[in-house]
Amino acid sequence: MSADKQLIYLDYAATTPLDARVAERMREVQDTAYFNPSSNHLAGRLSAQIVAHAATQLAALIKADAASILWTSGATESNNLAILGAAGQRQHRGKHLLTMRTEHKAVVDVFRTLEKRGFEVTWLDPDADGRLPPERLQAAIRDDTQLVSIMHINNETGVVQDIAGIGAICREHKVLFHVDGAQSVGKVSVDLSTLPVDLMSITAHKFYGPKGIGALYVANGVALEAQMFGGGQQRRLRPGTLPVDLIAGLGEAATIAAARYAGDLRHLSQLRQRLWDGIAEVAGIKLNGQEQGGYPGILNVSVDDIEGESLLLALEPLCVATGSACNSQSKEPSYVLRALGRSDKDAQSAIRFSMGRATSNDEIDVAIESYITAVAALRELAPGITA
Ligand SMILES: Cc1ncc(COP(=O)(O)O)c(C=O)c1O
Repeated sequence: MSADKQLIYLDYAATTPLDARVAERMREVQDTAYFNPSSNHLAGRLSAQIVAHAATQLAALIKADAASILWTSGATESNNLAILGAAGQRQHRGKHLLTMRTEHKAVVDVFRTLEKRGFEVTWLDPDADGRLPPERLQAAIRDDTQLVSIMHINNETGVVQDIAGIGAICREHKVLFHVDGAQSVGKVSVDLSTLPVDLMSITAHKFYGPKGIGALYVANGVALEAQMFGGGQQRRLRPGTLPVDLIAGLGEAATIAAARYAGDLRHLSQLRQRLWDGIAEVAGIKLNGQEQGGYPGILNVSVDDIEGESLLLALEPLCVATGSACNSQSKEPSYVLRALGRSDKDAQSAIRFSMGRATSNDEIDVAIESYITAVAALRELAPGITA
């Protein structure tokens, strides 16, 4: 996995390694079909066919129509396009938008931008377990509400939202529903033939595909205002030359995920239980998120009287996170955990373990041992703050 044999990677929520078959497929496409899929010649058409095939692979994973797939550079771009595009397209009907406080920055900051542009955003709070009670959404919808954006699986806590229930309320009120599916597509069942979802953000590097490629699912009949301008590619909605190799890689990763995710979930559930059983006895430990029913690839815990950054260092060569990787420059306590009602101190001590396909029981055992030892050592260093 890495040049450093000691390294134990437990940060799969930040990114996953490239599956060997995905890498192979990408190399093949780089060698034989590097052409511009918009070129109107034989070679261009070959690349266009590869792109079309990848769309059918992704569509099969999410049970959607291949025509509903728009290629982007990843979930950040998909979130931007979905939210800015929907808000812009519908602003003549109303300027009220709904989202949650626990969304990823790539959603939160888009809504903050819209607030500066004169939109009104209602920021919904979760319950203590991180879930949005559907009646809270129901009560917040107004006549001028145009868009609801709620993530499927939280990247910090693994909390899973009730997408079917939330979507049903949106349909009832004829409000567009966008889902940030960055942490769910390829990892759990996502069936857009039954889920009432209008827009879903997808990214390949969270399910063993390449970085820098993703997609936005746009349901039939949903109109968006373009946010980028250039060539006429992708119905002018997202112009730019398509990266055929990355797209082929995403397609391959989607096919592998469709065959594997159920088995992956069983593997992850076992690992998460083992990890929790191993550290649950540490004095002052608290689980952040759902006790049951969350995504099993993530375990987020806080512990009394310890500061997360020091813990992170003490845990090396274990690679875990204090919050989302995208936010790790910030020394602020996680706003996601604060929204779950955690104190600043608790939020500051949080560690996110995230497991994946290659994680072994041995690695979990090392993680357990390291965590117990590191907490004890830090408490020894600063006994004054220990309760
Ligand atoms: C929930 C969520 N949304 C969006 C993103 C951003 O995805 P990308 O890295 O593909 O831009 C991430 C990844 O960190 C994520 O976890």
